[in-house]
Amino acid sequence: MQQIRAVVASEFDAVNDLIIEQLHSDVGLVENIGHYIVDAGGKRLRPMLALLSAGACGNISDKHIQLAAVIEFIHTATLLHDDVVDVSTLRRGRPTANEKWGSAPSVLVGDFLYSRAFQILVSIGNLNLMGLLSDATNTIAEGEVLQLVRAGDASANREQYFTVIQNKTAVLFAAACCGAAMLSERADYADALYDYGLNLGMAFQLIDDVLDYEGDPESTGKNIGDDLNEGKVTLPLIYAMEQASPAEADLIRHAITEKSMANLTDVVRIVRDTGALDYTRQVAREYSGDALTALVPLRASSHHQALLDLCKLALSRQQ
Ligand code: IPE
Ligand code: IPE
Ligand code: MG
Ligand code: MG
Repeated sequence: MQQIRAVVASEFDAVNDLIIEQLHSDVGLVENIGHYIVDAGGKRLRPMLALLSAGACGNISDKHIQLAAVIEFIHTATLLHDDVVDVSTLRRGRPTANEKWGSAPSVLVGDFLYSRAFQILVSIGNLNLMGLLSDATNTIAEGEVLQLVRAGDASANREQYFTVIQNKTAVLFAAACCGAAMLSERADYADALYDYGLNLGMAFQLIDDVLDYEGDPESTGKNIGDDLNEGKVTLPLIYAMEQASPAEADLIRHAITEKSMANLTDVVRIVRDTGALDYTRQVAREYSGDALTALVPLRASSHHQALLDLCKLALSRQQ
């Protein structure tokens, strides 16, 4: 990640400065919660995608810096809301904002970040970009609602799962990459970058769903078992239920329906023994391969190379 970041080091610093500047509010609680989650770090992967895509299109302008900050604000807003919905207690290695301040402040500061993102977007002044990002934000919300509706339903299938992860995660990756091409007026690269981002985002979320079962909280900064605790039917569970003995499949089904981590150890064992995590990694590898292929039309550059390198990194990531 360090090497990839080095390709856009100065622009990346400018994005971080802008993020801090734009967190400003006269209401103390907004700044406290905003800084709490932003200062905890995070990988800043999505703004990096915007910067690298801009570089791959030829140049990184001030508007691209603004776009990168907008994307990270939208992402951070989704995290604040997501942790309320998922009743998560750990994020970026710290107690979540909902754990520290409660649900109401987390939801409202999430709203602040969403709307601040759109204020910055208006100052960029590109109507097509506004369309792209308002569609993406709307789709994320739909994805999260869809997931919520399906929680606790052990009969959820692959198609439903893939729709949810595309909506809640991959579409923002796609918008980060394609939005950069729009600002660069590189219509010839826009579709390729959208495809790249979408496929990379799918791979990224698939690995996230693996890490929810076998990640190290020290690295991920999140707890294991959050998905099971919310009755979230992710690909590792879908595959495990298909492959396990009837009794084991029943045990998983029961844990999903009850939205309970009581049998997490057994579920993790079954998920491992059926090869469900390896299988999910394999599917992620296929998406990552499609992301690589999507970049073929772009001319070679250090930024292009960094985007290619991210495909591998998305698979091997531990955090
Ligand atoms: C977390 O995203 C939400 C998912 C889509 C899995 P990241 O793993 O990029 O979170 P941060 O920003 O690095 O904390
Ligand atoms: C991530 O979903 C998607 C969004 C935050 C919109 P998850 O619920 O899997 O993300 P984590 O695991 O809490 O980061
Ligand atoms: Mg979550
Ligand atoms: Mg997760």
